[in-house]
Amino acid sequence: MYTQVEPPPLTPLRPPDTLRESQGGGPEFPSCDAFGMHYCNDFTFDEDLKAIEPDYRFYYECLMAPNARSVLNAMKRMDKLGEITTIATGHGPLLRHNLVELTERYRKWSSAKANAEARAAVFYVSDYGYSDRLSQAIAHGITKTGVAVDMMDLKNADPQEVNELVSHATALIIATPPASGTFATQVQAAVSTILAAAKDKQVVGMFECYGGDDEPVDTLLTKFLDLGLRKGFNSIRVKDTPNEAIYQLCEESGTDLGQKLTLKSKNKKLKSLDAEMEKALGRISSGLYILTAQKGNVTGAMLASWVSQASFEPLGFTVAVAKDRAIESLMQVGDRFVLNILEEGKYAPLMKHFLKRFPPGADRFEGVKTYSAENDSPILADSLAYLECEVASRMECSDHWIVYSTVSTGKVSNPDGMTAVHHRKVGNYY
Ligand SMILES: Cc1cc2nc3c(=O)[nH]c(=O)nc-3n(C[C@H](O)[C@H](O)[C@H](O)COP(=O)(O)O)c2cc1C
Repeated sequence: MYTQVEPPPLTPLRPPDTLRESQGGGPEFPSCDAFGMHYCNDFTFDEDLKAIEPDYRFYYECLMAPNARSVLNAMKRMDKLGEITTIATGHGPLLRHNLVELTERYRKWSSAKANAEARAAVFYVSDYGYSDRLSQAIAHGITKTGVAVDMMDLKNADPQEVNELVSHATALIIATPPASGTFATQVQAAVSTILAAAKDKQVVGMFECYGGDDEPVDTLLTKFLDLGLRKGFNSIRVKDTPNEAIYQLCEESGTDLGQKLTLKSKNKKLKSLDAEMEKALGRISSGLYILTAQKGNVTGAMLASWVSQASFEPLGFTVAVAKDRAIESLMQVGDRFVLNILEEGKYAPLMKHFLKRFPPGADRFEGVKTYSAENDSPILADSLAYLECEVASRMECSDHWIVYSTVSTGKVSNPDGMTAVHHRKVGNYY
């Protein structure tokens, strides 16, 4: 799921509170990772806002959203610098032409994230194995569900700060600490502080760092479970150099945990809709489709009904994808996928299969007949028709992304077949 981001930094991610004034106290300063993007064109600066904004947002979601509070703190310090003319980002174009617009977006996004109802604390160990990138993938998965994340490096952790973070967290995610080595004692002391501050209402998740000398996951997890904490996801065990499939497992584990934390409040909000309006909204009907995508060894699939043709020239359509869907990470601008159109009278087995609750990292195509599209995504052999598509733009609509995609090719397998139609009674679910 992290395939859109160029290899994220394996060096520790410098939190944005390292923003600092330039030597002369002037209005130009390096921002390290903040305000960056993994984007490259011929321009040194941010002349073309339209071209850079999808990457700017995606980079923020992956790397900065889990640090939303630090972003806001750093921006408070930036405000004191007076008018800033340039931000020299560590990745992507330097910001000059749209500086206010782009920085204010950080403020808006971070304020929304920092004020979430539930919080997860992710404790990792910078420079140890693959802890940085694995923790970022988990954190990204959690933030997709609207749960706020605070990340803390156990290598330099202040016991009082650890205490505070744990006491405000709904969930604790912990990287297994190194059993020996230069910073083992420090990290283990920090883990003991977490244990001492943990409460039985919290959920806990563990992941290995693949550092070669990790403490055993089960021993540490048992200590938390003995205190009464519940398991947020199955411990992530890393037996080989992490690949995209492992990062996908991490992201989906994070999303799973976040969904558990937000389930009650989401259901409550949906139930509070006006009953008559809800029924009227339910009269909006649609077809039934399955989105399928493959990028390298990462795959995704989702049943969708909020699909509608949106343009003639070029041929394009929109699909509304909930922000916490696993496949959402495979539907960034430029990504390619297949829209499988289901057939009336024949859709039930495919619908049943893809509506299963898949555990994180599961192969959603197991037992399903597929063949490969030109864009490498799986085509469902039992669908009525398929379209090969590319994401052209995305519009944020509260809890969904409206993904506008253009179509490059397509085929109907049964010329007499009709598209499956989905009628609903109420509008508070699909
Ligand atoms: C009839 C029906 C239509 C659906 N349409 C959509 C849709 O258009 N967009 C969406 O995000 N989810 C839609 N869903 C929900 C997802 O298909 C389903 O929750 C998803 O497969 C779970 O995937 P996840 O593991 O990524 O959360 C629909 C569900 C049903 C039952």
